Amino acid sequence: MDDRITTGRNDLDRFRLRTFIDGLTDSGELDIRDDRLDLADLADIMQGNEKAVWFRNVGDERMELVGNVLASRTRLARAFDCEPRKVALEMQRRLRIKPEFIDLDRASAPVQEVVLQGADADLTKLPVHLQHAADGAPYMAAVDYVIDPATGMTNSGFRRLMLRGRHEAGVDLNAPSDLRAIYMAASARGEKLPIAFVIGSHPIDHVSATMRVPVDELGLVSSLRAAPLPVVKCLTCDIRVPADAEMVIEGYLDERGYVEKEGPYGEYLGYYGGVKMNPVFHVTAITHRADPLFMTTTISGNRMDLTDTSNLEALRCELNVWEALKPVVREPVAVFAPVASGGSMSVRVALKQRFPGEARTALYTILGSVGVKNAFVVDPDIDIFSDQQMEWALGTRFQADKDLIIVSGVRLSPLDPSLHGSPVGAKAGYDLTWPMAAAGKWELSTPTPPTYAGAKFASIRAALEHGPKRFEALMAAVGSRDGREIVRELDTLRDSGLERDDQGRYFLKA
Ligand SMILES: Cc1cc2nc3c(=O)[nH]c(=O)nc-3n(C[C@H](O)[C@H](O)[C@H](O)COP(=O)(O)O)c2cc1C
Repeated sequence: MDDRITTGRNDLDRFRLRTFIDGLTDSGELDIRDDRLDLADLADIMQGNEKAVWFRNVGDERMELVGNVLASRTRLARAFDCEPRKVALEMQRRLRIKPEFIDLDRASAPVQEVVLQGADADLTKLPVHLQHAADGAPYMAAVDYVIDPATGMTNSGFRRLMLRGRHEAGVDLNAPSDLRAIYMAASARGEKLPIAFVIGSHPIDHVSATMRVPVDELGLVSSLRAAPLPVVKCLTCDIRVPADAEMVIEGYLDERGYVEKEGPYGEYLGYYGGVKMNPVFHVTAITHRADPLFMTTTISGNRMDLTDTSNLEALRCELNVWEALKPVVREPVAVFAPVASGGSMSVRVALKQRFPGEARTALYTILGSVGVKNAFVVDPDIDIFSDQQMEWALGTRFQADKDLIIVSGVRLSPLDPSLHGSPVGAKAGYDLTWPMAAAGKWELSTPTPPTYAGAKFASIRAALEHGPKRFEALMAAVGSRDGREIVRELDTLRDSGLERDDQGRYFLKA
């Protein structure tokens, strides 16, 4: 497949968020709200909503924004133009594509059609709403781009900005991340760190931002889009950003470090995080398209499977598991991170065991190298995307004293409330595969409705003289569509030496 795509002016809308949303219109994936709403109405409408929501008339300014866009595997698959079960594999394929950039100047970059600076660069003019009841203030989630002074490479992530005023926001920067390390180094040198936050871009750009890889992460956007990336330099710093985004908020994290109290936030595991000390972001410019589509991101609540965070986390987790298994398992068949767990707390893997011990090797690998807390490995006949099939496998193929691996004293997400403050916790691996010695046992095959395929014979006696047969084969042998006459016939054959073998097949003793 040729991954190169010719680029012209029209391509500046190809990966536009608005184009993606327009494309959802007839898919049943979009909840369009044209009624006049306040910012205070939005959170409740998005909570537990299976669709992306397009608000087209918010507040006195009649603002327009979309939310929950990334909160389904179907929508993420649409962004990557592949089947929902294959998104992580498609990402793996695209990661090998060489990045390309098209540098645009301000006049031709859609995201700089409107430029706001000074007093006009006002965060409180943007449609940022209160997401959860106990949040410290309204916040937005945005894709950030930073140039690491140590390497000259661009780093990107997804971060939340809690409003502190017209030109300031706190940035949640407590979890280990490359940006945290870059910022702490800048702060230790007494330097500000220029940063650009992109609001409203293609879903792929968001997937890209959640990855932590030691490459230039602007290039990652190009690779994952499988297309040259149009970029433009910010007005108030040297950072290059996707020129086809909806909006960019330029500014810097000041040099004072973790000095201001921020939060609480509804967090990505479905609980609140406490008040934390965080750095402060100062706005230097806001640029946007002439008709920008603002984007909000769902983070928490009681339906984690229907949040943007969980769905992005799940995808990142699956990709990491595929990568980790590559050197140790010959034939992984499928990987799925159930989003309801928060996206990366649990993972299911189906694999075809070639050697005894491969399933346990896979479990140790996953628990050791990926931030997964509970890992399940099954044989390929189990559909790991089905909760019903997984419950069946857990109920029938698992003995806790032999098939459970527990790894303790390891690092977990500090936001995991079951740690109750402990710095380390435990992970578990569930081996739900059959022992290799059990392979081929007919009792372990799954009962299915009879199909009555089989050779025809002149009579039941003739069929039995040919060899042992199951009841189904005897019905097929004489073309029976009922079966009860076979019971009667077998009854008469008992005096002629009718017997059963250990699979219950009938045969005639010689
Ligand atoms: C919707 C969403 C919001 C996120 N918000 C934050 C955040 O506020 N702070 C943070 O440190 N990580 C946050 N993350 C996780 C980071 O984006 C992720 O760990 C990323 O890989 C970090 O990138 P970096 O290590 O290249 O800096 C969020 C992830 C998602 C999907």
